[in-house]
Amino acid sequence: MAKTLMDTHPAISDLQAKAAKRIPHFAWEYLDSGTGADQARDRNITALEQVQLLPQLMKGVLEPRTATSLFGIGYAAPIGIAPVGLTGLIWPGADAALAATAAKYRIPYTLSTVATEAPEIAGPAADGMGWFQLYPPRDADTRADLVERARASGFTVLVVTADVPAGSRRERQRKAQVRVPPVIGPKLVFQSVVHPRWALGVVRNGLPRFRGLEKYIDKTTMRETAGFVGANLGGTLSFQYLAELRELWDGPIVVKGILDPDDAQRCLDHGADGIQVSNHGGRQLDGTPGAIDALAAIVDRVGASVPVLFDSGIRSGLDVARALALGADFVFCGRAFMFGLGAFGPEGSCHAYEILRDDLVNVMHQTGCETLAELRDRLVG
Ligand SMILES: Cc1cc2nc3c(=O)[nH]c(=O)nc-3n(C[C@H](O)[C@H](O)[C@H](O)COP(=O)(O)O)c2cc1C
Repeated sequence: MAKTLMDTHPAISDLQAKAAKRIPHFAWEYLDSGTGADQARDRNITALEQVQLLPQLMKGVLEPRTATSLFGIGYAAPIGIAPVGLTGLIWPGADAALAATAAKYRIPYTLSTVATEAPEIAGPAADGMGWFQLYPPRDADTRADLVERARASGFTVLVVTADVPAGSRRERQRKAQVRVPPVIGPKLVFQSVVHPRWALGVVRNGLPRFRGLEKYIDKTTMRETAGFVGANLGGTLSFQYLAELRELWDGPIVVKGILDPDDAQRCLDHGADGIQVSNHGGRQLDGTPGAIDALAAIVDRVGASVPVLFDSGIRSGLDVARALALGADFVFCGRAFMFGLGAFGPEGSCHAYEILRDDLVNVMHQTGCETLAELRDRLVG
């Protein structure tokens, strides 16, 4: 019998290893790196490894149910696609593939403000599964317009990213010359031609552009769009700003990147409907705790009032179960889906989801949990 992808690449780490070979060095550095010495990125993973679950056995026939609902929408599993910027640099056509994965499996897909596809294209492609991530524009008209475009494009949840008060240093990216626009020198050309599938994808899809932002600048060369991003998005977010967004968006608002319970509470006081505990995959401050270590205190503080979402370091369905056991209502992955794309293109992001879901179902069997809520009783400690 022919081997399936699940036989040859049963783990996210298998996709990671394959993607590292298929993506040019500069793009891989952009995807894989954290900031500083990658300590926070690595700590996310080692902290998750410490979370243990105690099986409860001899329950006879058990049928784990992963379907759940959030903000009134049903999802097939508590697993979503976190926002990733410059998606098309990592893998050409990434946004379309991620939206299709979400639509096919009925899971949320968060489109980044700085993704390489416009909300008008990505929203309908996600078929009701789209969430829109906002990097807060300084200009009030741009802010109102982006939010309205997200609504009109069918996005149901607004995710406001809080943990980029300033750009971070990203030393590995600097060394690899990750620039927007790409600096097309001999190094980059060489890296591209030795990765022919990636290069062919760029030929088909064009150089990556911030398509969602092009309407706010006069000329749509990548260089000017990148300048716009630096000058106009970020460094603005405050509780007052959040309260103003509340007036603009009548759907659910999630604030992403929160690690401090006091911040979580203040977000609620200023109109947030959910909190996404995250350290941005270790890409902002190398000294943060592993994000999973911040989860329980935030669940304690606000979990009775609003959903608490989690991302950063998830590499398996077991990790998803760990976060749920610690009280998360929903779990998102950034790199895992991108590793899938890098390894196998659109089929790979679907495969990444199947790995996460199958592993989660298996962990529910192994721990004797028929419902997601029961995982909370299996936490050791
Ligand atoms: C390449 C890359 C780009 C990212 N771009 C964004 C972004 O545009 N907006 C955002 O809110 N978070 C962004 N993030 C953070 C992710 O949404 C998420 O918090 C992080 O990837 C979770 O960690 P994980 O990669 O270990 O799953 C990015 C992460 C990566 C790896």
